[in-house]
Amino acid sequence: MPDLQSNTDSEKSVRVRLCGIGILPMIHGLKAHATVEASARIKPNPYKRPCRLGKMMRTAARALVMSLVGVVPSGCTTEYEASPRSSTLPADPQPAAPTAPAVLFVEFVVTPQDVVERMLKMARVTRGDVVYDLGCGDGRIVVTAARRYGCRAVGYDLDPLRVQEARTNATRHKVGHLVTIEQQDVLHSDLQQASVVTLYLGTEINARLIPQLEKLRPGARIVSHDFPIGVLTPDKVIEMTSRADGRQHRIYLWTCPLATKPK
Ligand SMILES: C[S@@+](CC[C@H](N)C(=O)[O-])C[C@H]1O[C@@H](n2cnc3c(N)ncnc32)[C@H](O)[C@@H]1O
Repeated sequence: MPDLQSNTDSEKSVRVRLCGIGILPMIHGLKAHATVEASARIKPNPYKRPCRLGKMMRTAARALVMSLVGVVPSGCTTEYEASPRSSTLPADPQPAAPTAPAVLFVEFVVTPQDVVERMLKMARVTRGDVVYDLGCGDGRIVVTAARRYGCRAVGYDLDPLRVQEARTNATRHKVGHLVTIEQQDVLHSDLQQASVVTLYLGTEINARLIPQLEKLRPGARIVSHDFPIGVLTPDKVIEMTSRADGRQHRIYLWTCPLATKPK
């Protein structure tokens, strides 16, 4: 399976790393770092077209704001081990071993509406399903699922602006009674009730979701826009050109229980 992140010139991966932010140590009382990863592809956003630097700055600023409101988990790592007690000169501080980023954050990029419709169709959503969108953005996937199929739907997003936007959209489209939106890190989300999971995140975060996805009940479906999920073998992969952005999109489908070998 070719790697989407490398096979398309217009698709690029961005990683923004904020280290030793002055305010975070005050919050956490220790030397800390917050890591923000924006691994979704940069592509034209139909709603906003900011310059790339501005966009990166805004992503970084938003992550900082979220860290201040307590979204960054306490997993922030100390940068140095405490010096050992010694009567001789203290040893030079040793950098800590690299750890997994405290937060994996993927920037907001929308799935075009025709791709949303195709994802839900591919997952064979019915009224009895409960659709979870991990990183729900403006809520378009959960709102579409509830409107079109009359099913319940849950969206998780770390960004409080997106949470607000998604709730507003659910209300505006009169599916507020079917749609629940929570501010939550997808890597710590409970998927027990999900029968369909939708993703538009990135290669790294998708792979980190495998332990949660493996717990989905047999028969549950997962659809991912543009990104595979680690070594999991999809049942089906389709490509479509969206009328909204003229770009080719790939949709992956898995049915639980998940397999790592060809089915
Ligand atoms: C590429 S957008 C996809 C939005 C929507 N699912 C769609 O397809 O239109 C990724 C979304 O995930 C959210 N996000 C990124 N990292 C997250 C994390 N660790 N936990 C929860 N939400 C996250 C971002 O705020 C953003 O809204």
